[in-house]
Amino acid sequence: MSAIILIGFMGAGKTTISKELGKTTNAQVVDMDDVLVERIGQPIADFFEEHGEPAFRNHETDLLKEAITKNSIIATGGGVILQKENQKVLVDKKVIYLKANADVLVERIRNDKTNIRPNAMNKNDGEIKKLYFSREKLYEKLAKFTIDTSEKTPQEIVAEILNQVTV
Ligand code: S3P
Repeated sequence: MSAIILIGFMGAGKTTISKELGKTTNAQVVDMDDVLVERIGQPIADFFEEHGEPAFRNHETDLLKEAITKNSIIATGGGVILQKENQKVLVDKKVIYLKANADVLVERIRNDKTNIRPNAMNKNDGEIKKLYFSREKLYEKLAKFTIDTSEKTPQEIVAEILNQVTV
């Protein structure tokens, strides 16, 4: 097996699906945001405030390059597709885009009280959607295939993934 990388906007279900996929296949799961929080030693929102987004993106790129060498399922953060360096890393990999419609994404982000997202917390719904639309093409371009998660259960999504890729 080679790494399977889940990309998509905040609230697309990358963490949930990576865990479910890990359970079903017994493959190792790397949740990039969790590893980054450990590495930077503080919540992502605090790190953004103290050190800025570019510093976070550097850590993210280092971790992506490391994680991709292992045969794992990787749940990325929503902004991983922004860096040119990351795009080069992802271009020939098993990249799956978890897509959802903009209203569903906003609702999931708003309902998630445990995950404070710096790129959403001070934005209104329209601004969050604008950010999503600004990234949409990049997710699509980098994906080997796309699954719309808006109205599917995690089990259905995992079944679709396993139909498409060998884990
Ligand atoms: C970000 C998404 C977050 C996290 C960071 C930045 C973004 O991950 O990496 O807050 O810019 O979209 P999730 O997509 O898991 O929320």
